[in-house]
Amino acid sequence: MSSIISCDIIDTITSPTNTVAAASLIRTSANNILPFTSRRLSFNMKIVVTGAAGFLGSRLADELLSASSPLCPSELLLVDSLAPAPRADPRVRTLALDLSASGAAESLVAADTAALFHLAAVVSGQAEEDFDLGLRVNFDATRALLEAARRRAPGLVFVFVSTCGVYGGELPPVVDERTAPAPETSYGMAKAAAELLVADYSRRGFVDGRSVRLPTVTVRGGAPNAAVTSFASGVVREPLRGLRSSLPVPAERELWVTAPGTVVRNLVRTAQVPGAALGGRRVLNLPGLRVSVRDMVAALRALAGEAVAARVVYEPNETIDRMVATFPIQFDNSMALRLGFEVNASFTDIVKEYINEIGNH
Ligand SMILES: NC(=O)c1ccc[n+]([C@@H]2O[C@H](COP(=O)([O-])OP(=O)(O)OC[C@H]3O[C@@H](n4cnc5c(N)ncnc54)[C@H](O)[C@@H]3O)[C@@H](O)[C@H]2O)c1
Repeated sequence: MSSIISCDIIDTITSPTNTVAAASLIRTSANNILPFTSRRLSFNMKIVVTGAAGFLGSRLADELLSASSPLCPSELLLVDSLAPAPRADPRVRTLALDLSASGAAESLVAADTAALFHLAAVVSGQAEEDFDLGLRVNFDATRALLEAARRRAPGLVFVFVSTCGVYGGELPPVVDERTAPAPETSYGMAKAAAELLVADYSRRGFVDGRSVRLPTVTVRGGAPNAAVTSFASGVVREPLRGLRSSLPVPAERELWVTAPGTVVRNLVRTAQVPGAALGGRRVLNLPGLRVSVRDMVAALRALAGEAVAARVVYEPNETIDRMVATFPIQFDNSMALRLGFEVNASFTDIVKEYINEIGNH
């Protein structure tokens, strides 16, 4: 038998008599067959993605619907306070919903929901500006979703998308999953608090939860967002569009970054690994690359030329730089790499991925 099972083949083998055999196989991105990892992840599964109108949520939806996706949703519910883009795929339902509204969480989870990817969030800069909004969306809505899963679909695979911004304070030279979070932003605080909920709901068997901390994701297309690390995308995106890019941090400031394509495949992988492999904390730091702003500009110069790189202007902003400087820049990602998560080879590769992407649109 081929090592690749397509969604079509899966549909034909999931008859009541051979469900067990089918459910023991899940296609991986490396086209290997992995042992079935969760009693809820099976074929014909219903999956929910929150934040599905956002940068990563909409890409995750596309990845889950793609022919190469290792998970094959029979129904994909895309939810966001802004209406998610419709897709020409009969498996997709879209819903515009404020997750912080009373009763919103319950309306998303059904008894046969197998997995929920929770990406909806108020990003760092906005959560710092508006404490109440940040707490309501980043913590209260996460708690409501966990509670809805506990009541309506116990054991559901709950992928909580967190951030390396949970770290701060005095850090060891190399950070790993055992390093205690000490957030110095309200965004990081709410994410860290939600991670604790995910771990305890999992320990009690209410959900099969996993929190993944994302590096800064770059290059983000479209308009700048309200994240304090927004410049990490602007430094490449705006000059390539012929626009000036203002850098609020000095050239030597370093960041821990990953590319959108890589992170989205890693999010899918997060749902596949056995929750117990992440230990009692149920957290994983997704792999990234350490890069200075100077080296980001150098990669842009090497690929697009001096005239493009010259559009980057250093205009340090103390408030932004102070927050960015609290984010760790060196991780030990051995747990993630052991579990088969991907990492980009270089920042040049990340810029190339973006140039290819804009070239294809
Ligand atoms: N992009 C990054 O660099 C990065 C880094 C670390 C962590 N993350 C995390 O990844 C996730 C996705 O990030 P992104 O870059 O796609 O952000 P994004 O801002 O593009 O998407 C977030 C989405 O959440 C939605 N949302 C906000 N409040 C909502 C509410 N009350 N109800 C329903 N939907 C609501 C927004 O409309 C938006 O579409 C977030 O949880 C973020 O904290 C992102």
